[in-house]
Amino acid sequence: MKSSKTDLAPVPLSNPDLIEEDAAAVAAVLRSDRLSIGPIVEQFEDAVAKKAACKYGIAVNSGTSGLHLCVRAMGIQEGDEVITTPFSFVATTNCLLFERATPVFVDIDDTYNMNPDLIEAAITPRTKALLPVEVFGNTAHFDAYKSIAKKHNLLLLEDCCEALGASLGGKPAGSFGEAGVFAFYPNKQITTGEGGLIVTNSEEIRDLCRSMRNQGRDTTAWLLHARLGYNYRLSEINAMLGLRQMSRIDEIIEKRRRAAGFYNEALAGIRGIHLPPMAEPETASWFVYVIRLADAYTATQRDSVMDFLRRNLIGCNPYFVPIHTQPYVQSLLGTKEGDFPVTERMSARTMALPFFGNITQQQVQRVADVLEEALDTLR
Ligand SMILES: Cc1ncc(COP(=O)(O)O)c(C=O)c1O
Repeated sequence: MKSSKTDLAPVPLSNPDLIEEDAAAVAAVLRSDRLSIGPIVEQFEDAVAKKAACKYGIAVNSGTSGLHLCVRAMGIQEGDEVITTPFSFVATTNCLLFERATPVFVDIDDTYNMNPDLIEAAITPRTKALLPVEVFGNTAHFDAYKSIAKKHNLLLLEDCCEALGASLGGKPAGSFGEAGVFAFYPNKQITTGEGGLIVTNSEEIRDLCRSMRNQGRDTTAWLLHARLGYNYRLSEINAMLGLRQMSRIDEIIEKRRRAAGFYNEALAGIRGIHLPPMAEPETASWFVYVIRLADAYTATQRDSVMDFLRRNLIGCNPYFVPIHTQPYVQSLLGTKEGDFPVTERMSARTMALPFFGNITQQQVQRVADVLEEALDTLR
């Protein structure tokens, strides 16, 4: 039976999975004498590195900071080209622009990840690295990216900000390249409020990233700086929240997988939408639940569906606006609308629906009913 859309509470777009024990553990850090540079950061680093099957973890204050440090640690600089996707959050490109390296965009396919068949044509003598993204947590094609990087002697930096706990062929997100970066904004699988974490097996990348996140220090001498650095440290307060969340990571991922299952079931009968294309649904780690309207719909129609959902107190967002069409990227790189047709066709029709581990089957059914009603208004 369809749910009534009147008199119902809002369904938020996202909602972190926090419990009383998390709050108590964070409060205990506040009462301790160490709020930064302490043992909790190290424990959090070890927990995330283990999940990504990597030797080392370097916690930072955001995913963007982590990507930036990796770009510098890998020696990517002005004159270097890095092949990346236009269908991502802007930080994927920004971390290259910070260093005046040149992002070279390659279009996506219907997995929403970079199309591996288009990569080799984009490689030039100046190409230094690949920077692919597990979009929405989907690990599709990461084995192909790894082989292409190996074949052409390119570095591989994995933007796995959306994919903590995902895997492909038994290999966890974060373990495909020289380094991977996770992010912990409150809509992610786990949160530290704000935060990020680099994983790597390279001692060189580890040491450079640790130094650069800490103002370029190489030792505990507070006023000695071996290199140009930043303050990208994560506090003990944030790290404790992350450590607590990591103690429940399998449960958190499982709850999100169950929530995705509710959606797959509730939306299965609705005509005119594509469900998310997860590479390995049974081991997937869901970041957001993004549907795509069929090509027959226009971007304006997608926007009117989102307006309808919002009027019914249902959170939603268009994920993503292509990076190559962002105004500052157009003026820096000379990119324009029309350059990456698959990205543009898809991004005009995608929308994220409310998604979090504790969403109930009833809430999902209500979203599905309102979505169907919105689509009916367009038929
Ligand atoms: C694909 C991707 N890359 C990078 C980032 C940047 O992470 P943060 O917001 O923590 O800087 C995010 C997070 O939104 C992301 O989704």
